[in-house]
Amino acid sequence: MLAERLAAAGWLPADWAGSFAAVDRGAFVPARAWVDDEYGSPHPIDRDADPTRWRAAVYADVPIVTQLDDGATVWPATGGHATSSASQPRVVLEMLTALDVHPGHRVLEVGTGTGYNAALLAHRLGDDQVVTVEVDPTLAELARARLAAAGYKPMVICGDGAVGWPAGTPYHRVVSTAAVVAGHVPYPWVEQTRPGGLILTPWGTPFRNGGLLRLTVHDDGAATGRIVGDAAFMRLRQHRAAAPFGHAARLGDLLDASTTAEESTTTVRPLEVATGHAAFAIGVAIEGVQSGVFPDAEPGHVEVLLYDVRSESGAAARITPTADAAGRWPVRQHGPRRLWDEVETAYTWWALLGRPERTRYGVTVTPTRQQVWLDHPSNIVPTP
Ligand SMILES: C[S@@+](CC[C@H](N)C(=O)[O-])C[C@H]1O[C@@H](n2cnc3c(N)ncnc32)[C@H](O)[C@@H]1O
Repeated sequence: MLAERLAAAGWLPADWAGSFAAVDRGAFVPARAWVDDEYGSPHPIDRDADPTRWRAAVYADVPIVTQLDDGATVWPATGGHATSSASQPRVVLEMLTALDVHPGHRVLEVGTGTGYNAALLAHRLGDDQVVTVEVDPTLAELARARLAAAGYKPMVICGDGAVGWPAGTPYHRVVSTAAVVAGHVPYPWVEQTRPGGLILTPWGTPFRNGGLLRLTVHDDGAATGRIVGDAAFMRLRQHRAAAPFGHAARLGDLLDASTTAEESTTTVRPLEVATGHAAFAIGVAIEGVQSGVFPDAEPGHVEVLLYDVRSESGAAARITPTADAAGRWPVRQHGPRRLWDEVETAYTWWALLGRPERTRYGVTVTPTRQQVWLDHPSNIVPTP
């Protein structure tokens, strides 16, 4: 039914239809997991206690969270941060399509998670052609067992996927299902991919986790390519520090309590800086700022919060119905950095460039540096 629904919506590419129909997502999702409710909060699902609800979630086009806080938060608790999931099927298919695999290709997957994506790759290409690396030993072991039970035997390695898996080289394709932070595409992925091969990875900034980067590896050891889509994934473990979890509430409270916060107004729509193509471009241009959109204490009001953990700076722009009508929104800024001013400057720069969409941006990776460019590798975008 999921395949039918995705096909009807035009999201099931013909070359993946056979594998998608053959590999049962339900064989890879644990009996106890979490799915977001209509308010975006994780809700426990249990195959034994409520099989109807579990099946409805597993065979829907939604991500299923399978681990919180690296396993420290135990089901059915719901607080904490998602650290592993079975990705949304539509996104899985979008990434597999962008990966452009063909029979005979060898693929390295980083981030085994449930093993579902590895099973799709193994079905399409053959067990011997697929290596998948998972950093979490419990998840790696569970994925290995689920893959074997479903009849697939790709090589499952427990280790740090950022160093690739040199013993399996060279690969025609490297696909990461964990996000890389801008400036930190692991160079071993380039070294381990054949010239002409592709690397596909979610790529984002602390400001905006989203952007699917596809690099082509060249003979000279460099890799270049564009952002080809939008994909918000959990980050590679070692890249989490760039955008640490759990500081929004703390820095938001600090800002609310501040008696020295600077008050001003802005004519830039707060939601526009925090979402979409603008947020992608702003994230590329500024250093270490995280953003979030939160309901404000006052009902019906929303707040765009900007925060920088290192300097303990925060800024909030409130979206109120009356301010909206007047075309100005109130802003409060606290701490050594004036984050709203920085973000507004970056936004203005992006607007002056003609508001380029994220797919006009590209990245070059060499052994010694990583650069972001607009439209052409020679048109380098200044980054922090
Ligand atoms: C979105 S999940 C992967 C989904 C998976 N491909 C599937 O089909 O279920 C991301 C996974 O990346 C793993 N991960 C994070 N950092 C990693 C690293 N450095 N090396 C390998 N795996 C990593 C996480 O533990 C998590 O299981």
